[in-house]
Amino acid sequence: MENQRTERHALTPNEIGDCLGGMTVQGVYRILKSHNIQAIQTNSKRKLIPPLSVRQLLEERGFQYPKKNVSFQIVKGGVGKTSLSFSLAIRASHYGVRVLAIDLDQQGNLTKSLDVEARNCLVWLDIIRDRTRIEESIKKVTENLHLIPSNLNNSRLDVELTSSAVNLKDMMKDCLAPIRNNYDLIIIDCPPAINKINTAATCASDLIVIPINPDPYAMDGLEFTLAELTKIKKDFKLNFDFQILWNRYDARERLGAFYMHELAKNEDRINNILPVVIRTDTALKNAIFDSKSIFDLPKKSTIREDIDQFTREILGLNAWKENTIKAANA
Ligand SMILES: Nc1ncnc2c1ncn2[C@@H]1O[C@H](COP(=O)(O)OP(=O)(O)OP(=O)(O)O)[C@@H](O)[C@H]1O
Ligand SMILES: [Mg+2]
Repeated sequence: MENQRTERHALTPNEIGDCLGGMTVQGVYRILKSHNIQAIQTNSKRKLIPPLSVRQLLEERGFQYPKKNVSFQIVKGGVGKTSLSFSLAIRASHYGVRVLAIDLDQQGNLTKSLDVEARNCLVWLDIIRDRTRIEESIKKVTENLHLIPSNLNNSRLDVELTSSAVNLKDMMKDCLAPIRNNYDLIIIDCPPAINKINTAATCASDLIVIPINPDPYAMDGLEFTLAELTKIKKDFKLNFDFQILWNRYDARERLGAFYMHELAKNEDRINNILPVVIRTDTALKNAIFDSKSIFDLPKKSTIREDIDQFTREILGLNAWKENTIKAANA
């Protein structure tokens, strides 16, 4: 059982070969051997590469792991903020990224998805109101995936941020400062709201991912969220980037293509649409219901491919691969 779990959190030589610009499996094996990088030998004689070995290998080839804070935000509920932050956290950890996931939603859905018992946890409210040391709130999900959980106690967080003399601009960054160097990627799952919690998350973000579903109501939520982000950026003199991510795309629904086309027509927006689409796949819902990730399921699925591409995009692996290929052909 433990073996199977370890294997599902490892990458295949094909996946690594693809990251390296189409290197063959034999080529990947050669690098593993020449740098003495540990692989897992499976029953089927295949080798798999666990997260820390993936890191060793990619760094050996010159990839620099990014250091950034990414939050998932949109005022509309149920569009995929939690599912996508969860899936990104898991998949990035497979690539050897040191991930800290932060659940800021009092519903604690990200916490539950990561199978962390939320009831007696220390949450962000404890850090802000009671000056709890941030280290004490951190739960270790795997070696390189940690979580600051959330529960209903955080329902007081917004009031606390409104009433106390908290400096919203620096609040999260200051709290994170003692542990920031322990992580590459900080992923923040936000509630579907326009409130002080989300403002604080925005101030701490380098990138804001805005998931939308191709339907008219989601487009309303998008405009509202973008207006708020623009205001916060100006008021607090911030420098973050934002990217829109299509989620729950179904090629059989004509309206989906229509809305994607409409959004892409806007020249101001085109550079803020991620070049990946997450398709609708019930495997995601079922996996999360069982407190699993899609990567824990034995079968491959479309959503797995989409999440993998999304993760590579966020980590900068796709851009790195293109540059490496260009440099090799120059
Ligand atoms: N690509 C997808 N395919 C199938 N189901 C999906 C997909 N993305 C999200 N879902 C499902 O949609 C539901 C809502 O997703 P999720 O909880 O991630 O949204 P949210 O934006 O975090 O919601 P809230 O605003 O309430 O926090 C969940 O049941 C999730 O499993
Ligand atoms: Mg959510």
